[in-house]
This record gives sequence, structure tokens and C-alpha cells, in this order.
Amino acid sequence: MADLSMEIAGLKLKNPVMVASGTFGHGEEYSELIDLRKLGAIVTKSITVSPREGNPPPRIVETPAGMLNSIGLENDGLKKFIEEHLPFLAKFKTPVIANIAGETQKEFEELASTLSKERQVKALEVNISCPNVEHGGMQFGCSPVGTEEVVRAVRAATDMPLIVKLSPNVTDITEIAKKAKDSGADVISLINTVMGMAIDAETRRPRINRIVAGLSGPAIKPIALRMVWQVAQSIKLPVIGIGGIMNARDALEFFIAGASAVQIGTANFVDTQASIKTIEGINEYLDRKGIKDIKGLIGTLNK
Ligand code: SIN
Repeated sequence: MADLSMEIAGLKLKNPVMVASGTFGHGEEYSELIDLRKLGAIVTKSITVSPREGNPPPRIVETPAGMLNSIGLENDGLKKFIEEHLPFLAKFKTPVIANIAGETQKEFEELASTLSKERQVKALEVNISCPNVEHGGMQFGCSPVGTEEVVRAVRAATDMPLIVKLSPNVTDITEIAKKAKDSGADVISLINTVMGMAIDAETRRPRINRIVAGLSGPAIKPIALRMVWQVAQSIKLPVIGIGGIMNARDALEFFIAGASAVQIGTANFVDTQASIKTIEGINEYLDRKGIKDIKGLIGTLNK
């Protein structure tokens, strides 16, 4: 068996396959379906300071090659995460990456400093890329200035490995990635969802209450792969690839493009075993190719 272990900015992983924020809750439901111990890491649903109900329905719709969502960062809030969800996750000893979302710089600071005191949390993923909220989210991540504001504030509040999750809804992804790096990011994760919409022609109504939503799934994989490759070429930080990864073959493409780890998102809704099958498939591929260590595959695109 090849060596799948990975260390990213001090974050130690037994394998580089994580489950993506917002597609796995806080792990409770999935723990009955898969062995959470086998995962490289669990990235939580975005945590906000106060509980949020999220956007009114309909807020999910299936599309020909993926899905649109406009959840609006529904979650129980910081206190309940620490008191209830984190103790549950801690039982599995799989690294927990807390995804945080603030409406203001101050909220990001509070989330980062509070969660940094929790020893079960091994890294923070800063969500500056949600397209489904009025304040915060993509508003920060689509401008270099907004990116800098948030990343600097979070950096000052924590010594933990800091992952910044970028939005694809920008003209030049490398400009935002560079700004995140210069502001203190240790790792870049990308991409969050691509803005899209769907209409019911019979009723002429939007299929999503908030009209515009975030597209994920196989439809966005080529965009994600291109952006991961561009970012990996342009800055010297580890990159986590996200976007339409449905199986091991998809994941392998991201490693070859320069990712040091991947996150499985929409695939979890199609097959609860997708992340485990991806780990197994990566192993098989490395064995078949005689590659002893997954690190030997990163950024090896033959041009
Ligand atoms: C949502 O809760 O609306 C999705 C989260 C995200 O896109 O970051």
C-alpha cells in the first residue's frame, strides 16, 4: 500500500481526502453510514457566531450535472457547536477542520479566537466565498481588499493552520489567492460554488427562492481543476482541491494539477460511501503505477 499520509501547514492527515463543508453536517448522521475514522479530515458546516435559520425554501434543486443550493449558512451557532457537535466529533480522532463564516471582521475574529481554544479543532477554514448571504461570504472573497481584511483579522486571532476557501466567481483567482497568502493564509482551498440559477418555464418562477444560487457537482469540475492548477502555479502554498470530485479518478486529476489534498462535496449526496471509495481508488492507482507515496503525484502534469 502506498503512503497516503500528508502534512499540510502542520496539519497531519492519514490521507488527503476530506469531506467538504456543508455536505456532511457535523458528521452525526454520516457516522451511522461510514467509518469517520477512515477520513483524512472532516470539514464542518460553516459555523457562525449566532444560530442561523438559513434562507427560505426552495433552496436546493438538482441540475443536469450537479445541484444548486442556497442554504444561507444554516447552523446552530458557535456555542452549540462547541458544547454538542465538537464532543461528538472528538470521539473519532479524525482531524476536525472548523469552517467559519462571519458577517463582519469582528465576527471572524471571535470565531477564530474561540475555536482556537478547542483542542479537537486542528485547523480553521475561512469561508469568504458563500454566494448565498446578504452580508459576508462572497462579498469579502470577491475583492482583494475584502480578502485581506478578513484573513488579516483571523490570522491575528489564531496560531492554527489557516485555510482560506476561495470563490470561483472572480476574474482572476490568482490575484485573490496571492492576497490571501500575503495576509497570512497557510493553505488555499478552492473552489466554492459557481453562481447559477434555474427557472421553471411552466410557472416562470425561479426554482430557488433567492433566485441566484451556488452550483456544485460534476458540472464545475473543469473550472475547479483549472483554478487549482492556476493557483498552484502562482503561489507557494499548499492547495486543497474542491469542486465536482465524484470519485478517485477525479481526485487524482486534482493532485496532478497541484493539489495536496481534496475535499469531497456533492458526491456525498449521491453516494454516502464516495469519500471512502475515493481513498481506496487512490490507493489502487498508486499501487498500479508503482508510486510509493501520494506526495510523488502532486503537480506532475505532463505538458
Ligand atoms: C450555504 O450555506 O448557502 C452554502 C455555503 C457556502 O456556499 O459557502
